[in-house]
Amino acid sequence: MEYARSVQSPNAYWGEQAKRLHWIKPFYSVKNVSFDPENVSIRWFEDGYLNVCENCVDRHLANNADKTAIIWEPDSIGAPRLISYRELHDEVCRLASGMKALGVRKGDRVAIYLPMIPEAIFSMLACARIGAIHSVVFGGFSPEALAGRIEDCGAKLVITADEGLRGGRCIPLKHNVDAALAHPGISTVSHVIVMRHTHGEIQWNDQRDVDYQALTRSASPDCAAEPMNAEDPLFILYTSGSTGKPKGVLHSSGGYLVYAAYSHERVFDYQPGDVYWCTADVGWITGHSYVVYGPLANGATTLMCEGLPNYPDETRLGEIIDTHNVSTLYTAPTAIRAFMAKGDAPFRDSRRSTLKIIATAGEPINPAAWNWYHDVVGRGQAQVIDTWWQTETGGVMITPLPGVDRHKPGAATQPFFGVCPQLVDNEGHEIEGPGEGNLVITDSWPGQMRTLWGDHERFVQTYFSAFPGKYCSGDGARRDEQGDYWITGRVDDVINVAGHRLGTAEIESALVAHGKVAEAAVVGCPHDLKGQGIYIYVTLNQGFLPSPEIHEELRQWVRKEIGPVASPDWIQFARDLPKTRSGKIMRRILRKIAANEFDQLGDVSTLADPAVVPQLVDARVNRA
Ligand code: WT7
Repeated sequence: MEYARSVQSPNAYWGEQAKRLHWIKPFYSVKNVSFDPENVSIRWFEDGYLNVCENCVDRHLANNADKTAIIWEPDSIGAPRLISYRELHDEVCRLASGMKALGVRKGDRVAIYLPMIPEAIFSMLACARIGAIHSVVFGGFSPEALAGRIEDCGAKLVITADEGLRGGRCIPLKHNVDAALAHPGISTVSHVIVMRHTHGEIQWNDQRDVDYQALTRSASPDCAAEPMNAEDPLFILYTSGSTGKPKGVLHSSGGYLVYAAYSHERVFDYQPGDVYWCTADVGWITGHSYVVYGPLANGATTLMCEGLPNYPDETRLGEIIDTHNVSTLYTAPTAIRAFMAKGDAPFRDSRRSTLKIIATAGEPINPAAWNWYHDVVGRGQAQVIDTWWQTETGGVMITPLPGVDRHKPGAATQPFFGVCPQLVDNEGHEIEGPGEGNLVITDSWPGQMRTLWGDHERFVQTYFSAFPGKYCSGDGARRDEQGDYWITGRVDDVINVAGHRLGTAEIESALVAHGKVAEAAVVGCPHDLKGQGIYIYVTLNQGFLPSPEIHEELRQWVRKEIGPVASPDWIQFARDLPKTRSGKIMRRILRKIAANEFDQLGDVSTLADPAVVPQLVDARVNRA
């Protein structure tokens, strides 16, 4: 069996798969990994050299120069933009030359804060071409959040646009960059490249700002691809953890690309000629691996949609599928639920007969949404693929395979090739057979993150200390009688709101930075559309009384500090929070109260003051 071979002989298996890429200097060593918490070290193809951009672009010029690499659909209905591999090469080389002219060198960090326009892909690939490490920041993050990420990685350059468009709304990206760079902690950024997209009004700083078009039109179309060691970093992507500030997940060049490309082919049954559409924003890992790197490494046509697939209305999704003969659709359960809420009617006027795979990722999919996706969007003919993975894993880890349809709505089913999942109890003992526990991975795979930028200790602490010798995913899972995996959700203080991963600690520290807030606790709460919503408990400082004004002020404050992605759904004022005698907030109880599960509060006798619980129950925000 192929899976057995992949996990029993990883060197042979991955050595073979890595041949799909062009190596400037071949590798002899395949896997060199230690999960020992004393010395975590993850290296794949470590003596090989390649260039990721060359693999995603130049390699396809010989036979497929005129093939469409990118189909771009604008936010509002209008002519799509088609970009061939030849044009992609030209655009990327010009931008790479321009970046070099601005002094960007191998190993430098570049922050990319762009909307979903082709220039976002050009920017990522241009970085890869010259060996700069990109850090894409989602446009839904605030200037404060952007500043934190720029500061943490010490970016030299920022690439942005005047404005982004999403569902008809403007996002003031350049304005946000200006605000972020005004932060006192930021001293490394020498230039900001600005793409004129909407031509909206912006401030201009002659010393710092560079016009994207002017730069690339005058730059050389020749720019040699930098030979990179397989273990040289390709990108940093910040993601939320259960504690502290966002973590800079670092991915490699060789192993990451092998894994993104190979998983893209196998999970989505990619065939030459297929048009592949992943709706994720490039600001998330799904956008990195399955809008950009996986599909382009495979010479595919990747469809990129600027706005929302339900804008101007719900018929847009089917129209785009029909117009471009899309064969694979990859989206999030949140989007599926939003469509489902509007019913089947918008799908009557499109055929969607080219769809063969319809996939989802990012959060557990409820069986009702799974069935609706299968029956309506896929007309009962396309296979639903529910993929479990994480920013940290680089690519899909647990997934059904095309053609092996078990029809289990809600199950991610089986490990991908080379992936060794295990369930363990809280003491770390392996759970065999059917059961439920913490989902860990016992051996490395090429797409695994290598470290956290600038903080290897935190990397080891976060992922390898809870269950020594194993990668701890932070998710819980159940395994059924057939050995299929069902992801049950995070077991830590991370919440998943509309498929966006947020740390409750981050939101709490934003709240307590507000002058009127004494204390705050944030928990996830079931939400019909978003899967989870953000439920906040706040205690106000002396002298302030709960009011609709303060409620709104705090809501806006969180949006400003973190961004619209973290917009609170419910805020409950509390006189006090449930704490243990040592002062630890009991989030377990707060989660139950938020979820309306008053009969499942458990033992409250260990609280410093058990009387706060009935007060909180009484005052629970009416969500009906
Ligand atoms: C977290 C990772 C899928 C990559 C993009 C999100 C949750 C992800 C599933 C799934 C149930 C899922 C997990 C995971 N998650 N996929 N198919 N079923 N839950 O990457 O932002 O790093 O979030 O998303 O809780 O830990 P991310």
